[in-house]
Amino acid sequence: MKFIPAVHVLDAGLLTIELPGDGDALDTLRLRRSVLEEQRWFITEPSEFVDSLELQKSLLADLDRSANSLALVGRLDGVIVGVVYLQGGRLKRMRHTAKLEILVHADHRGAGIGKHLLAEALIWAKANPQLEKVGLAVFAHNARAIALYEGFGFSREGHRPREYKLDDGTYWDDLLMFREV
Ligand SMILES: CC(C)(COP(=O)(O)OP(=O)(O)OC[C@H]1O[C@@H](n2cnc3c(N)ncnc32)[C@H](O)[C@@H]1OP(=O)(O)O)[C@@H](O)C(=O)NCCC(=O)NCCS
Repeated sequence: MKFIPAVHVLDAGLLTIELPGDGDALDTLRLRRSVLEEQRWFITEPSEFVDSLELQKSLLADLDRSANSLALVGRLDGVIVGVVYLQGGRLKRMRHTAKLEILVHADHRGAGIGKHLLAEALIWAKANPQLEKVGLAVFAHNARAIALYEGFGFSREGHRPREYKLDDGTYWDDLLMFREV
């Protein structure tokens, strides 16, 4: 399904939200690596991350080909600072669902970029004839992301205590959230 690019004027600059272009694989990869290096928001540790440009290109191409999936990039004054992915279910019984993932570069958080990316992804999901449910998993300590999701009507559907174990022996809980679209 098509996506019409959206432009928002923010205090931080001009935010354009659009489908990734052919040359955007490297920048989206760099963005993911920089967020993984913070080691607080995603499961994968930086040493476990396979930053292969070919893999990222094929991931973006897969999302582009799949009718119930979407990738959007957010460019602030032309530079990619955020992405949102909706990975639609592949199996027949899961094609009405998509898993959401969103990330904004640490230098640009709190400026409204995440909110606009999520809003555009949800508008697209609502208009998609296949999709009925968007779900996600978020660490229970990720207050900013949880506030963002709740602000967009996501409800909690599950809590997985001690789901992740850190090198120092402490644990992180995982929250599962969803909303109907
Ligand atoms: C979660 C994330 C995508 C939000 O993007 P963002 O651009 O920082 O968010 P926004 O500036 O649009 O703020 C959206 C909402 O988040 C909440 N928020 C913003 N800053 C916050 C803070 N410091 N603490 C708690 N909530 C906060 C508010 O509800 C805000 O809405 P409001 O402006 O109407 O009050 C971004 O912080 C991020 O990439 N974090 C690291 C990666 C990550 O956690 N991804 C999600 C994994 S599940």
